[in-house]
Amino acid sequence: MQQTEISIILPTYNESKNIWGILEHIQKYIPKDLMTETIVVDDNSPDDTAKIAEDYFHSIKEKTSHTISVIKRNAKKGLSSAILNGIQEASGNTIIVMDSDFSHPPNIIPKMIDTLKQTSCDIVIASRYIKGGSIQGWPFKRKLMSKIATGIAKKGLKIESHDPMSGFFAFKKNIIDGLKFDAIGYKMLLEILVKTKGAKIQEVPYTFTDRKAGSSKLGASTVLDYCKSVWKLYKYGRKVRKDEARTSVRFLSKAARFFTVGASGLGVNYLASMLFATSANIWYLHATVMGIIFSITSNFVLNKYWTFEDRDFSTKRTLVQYGKFAGFSSIGALVQLGMVYYLVDGWDISYPISLTLAVGIAAFSNFILNKKWTFKE
Ligand code: GDD
Repeated sequence: MQQTEISIILPTYNESKNIWGILEHIQKYIPKDLMTETIVVDDNSPDDTAKIAEDYFHSIKEKTSHTISVIKRNAKKGLSSAILNGIQEASGNTIIVMDSDFSHPPNIIPKMIDTLKQTSCDIVIASRYIKGGSIQGWPFKRKLMSKIATGIAKKGLKIESHDPMSGFFAFKKNIIDGLKFDAIGYKMLLEILVKTKGAKIQEVPYTFTDRKAGSSKLGASTVLDYCKSVWKLYKYGRKVRKDEARTSVRFLSKAARFFTVGASGLGVNYLASMLFATSANIWYLHATVMGIIFSITSNFVLNKYWTFEDRDFSTKRTLVQYGKFAGFSSIGALVQLGMVYYLVDGWDISYPISLTLAVGIAAFSNFILNKKWTFKE
């Protein structure tokens, strides 16, 4: 059987007047060349919404490869929680979330899928607040509330999107891998945007048309939930930023120490090599080997007891480390030897210049390899 590519999540509560029609419209507009599923997440609607959704699927299933499944939850647990439940059960790599009351027009689904594919972005938001988008049928009070909530999200949570309150969006499922969600209230998209910071976003305009049948479930508790959710997300963002700052300061100070040690190693290497080559009158290649051994040892001691002083290693560990350090450094040494030989003998370049070049390149590869493997936590 072919793998499902697109999963459409349709949360429902008391949508008996809309569910048949919206499923029909979705069926009409989903691209026929893609394997798609719709997951209706119903919170035990007393008006039999779930049964109507199932009846609709029975009526079409012989004629289509599009599947419709109904998750029946035992109580009204909230919109975001229903969306999250649907996402967890989805088999597609692309998730589309929308209302079931016709406020979100299914005819823009193909455009959302195309945008997601062609612009290689991670999230596509159907937006009311970009050129071409609008709202029809909301009273002034609801429009104002939406604008205020949007402003709070954009400023307080540093969200770039024009419509982070949208309930109509598509995203690649893998961007939320490993993330934990609180799914409070209505604003699932907002939580996804905060927790996938850095994800690439595109917006497509649409006209939100207030429902003609049934009634909105948004009430005073939704506003309270929104405040609670924004506060939690604000604290989440602050913690992430603090952790990132701490990590980068730690990284920079370690890198600075490692490079300083590397630089001191260059000096040790150069001086020892020159000392052996000139004062002790040793053949220049042997002198270079001595310089390498001296610098490996001094670099190791300094890195262990200064750069990585916060890491507690046993004596046994020190030997293993020295082995690794020397092993990786030998690769650098071979590079250094080869280069010196090639430059002096092959290109007739003076030994001091050849040595400087070779020591620089060897020290760099030394740094990369040892940083990654020898002194890892
Ligand atoms: N399963 C489930 N459980 N579904 C729910 C619940 C719930 O507790 N509450 C609402 N829904 C479903 C409705 O059946 C509908 O399909 C959709 O969620 C939207 O609910 P409405 O109550 O009609 O929302 P609205 O139109 O007032 O709010 C709209 O505007 C917001 C933007 O300001 C929605 O489009 C939201 O998705 C959107 O975020």
